[in-house]
Amino acid sequence: MKVAIIGGTGAQGLNLAKRLAIAGEDVIIGSRSLEKALTKVDEVKKLLNEYDFQMDGMTNEDAARTGDLLILTVPLTAQKETLLSIRDYVDDKILIDATVPLETAIGGSPARYIDLMEGSAAERTAKILRKTSVKVVSAFNNISNSQLENIPEPIDCDCLVSGDDNDAKRVVIDLIEKIPGIVCIDCGKLEKARMVEKITPLLIGLNIKYKSHYGGLRITGIDKK
Ligand SMILES: NC(=O)c1ccc[n+]([C@@H]2O[C@H](COP(=O)([O-])OP(=O)(O)OC[C@H]3O[C@@H](n4cnc5c(N)ncnc54)[C@H](OP(=O)(O)O)[C@@H]3O)[C@@H](O)[C@H]2O)c1
Repeated sequence: MKVAIIGGTGAQGLNLAKRLAIAGEDVIIGSRSLEKALTKVDEVKKLLNEYDFQMDGMTNEDAARTGDLLILTVPLTAQKETLLSIRDYVDDKILIDATVPLETAIGGSPARYIDLMEGSAAERTAKILRKTSVKVVSAFNNISNSQLENIPEPIDCDCLVSGDDNDAKRVVIDLIEKIPGIVCIDCGKLEKARMVEKITPLLIGLNIKYKSHYGGLRITGIDKK
């Protein structure tokens, strides 16, 4: 399976790409700029030269066309434009949405959430792509890029997963749990992303307050499997 990260040159996408590639996935870094994507791939290959992995760089459009499973990691302000640019290539694929509507999108605080009329960023993605047969799954919202970057340390955070298609969620959970330390929790329908996304600005606020970059969450007391 080829995993294409749309907006994969940023903090979240690139660190997710590193983790998934090391875990054995064939990863594509997508960008608006082919040159930028290729440069980032070169940087990752130099940085992680002790690992053997497969990673390519492409434009977002080519990445979406080539990828079997897509992960969207762009800021809220770029969400609609980016999705429209790949809309023709998403039919029958799974798209993991990691977008969090932070107030930074309008010049505000990273510790505040912006309420969207669709309910959540993941539901906004589903609405923008409603004329396609893509299956949108919300995940990765609460896992900080710093934890992802801290290779080879295991991730000390659960991954809350929401989506309307159970088979798609199963594929996503199996993929994500290849990253050491992450335990996925199926939270239910995509609308659960309304609550999950709001945890992220809370964690960012805690990171600021306690001078950390690694704040995460673990759900306890339930059999997660
Ligand atoms: N950072 C985290 O720890 C974290 C954790 C959980 C969730 N998230 C969520 O994941 C998403 C990505 O976060 P990030 O920190 O990786 O963001 P980022 O570094 O600011 O941006 C990611 C990529 O999006 C593209 N992009 C940026 N602005 C754009 C614009 N105006 N139009 C089109 N493309 C644009 C850029 O790629 P190109 O220039 O190469 O096209 C950029 O490298 C956000 O929604 C964020 O809330 C982040």
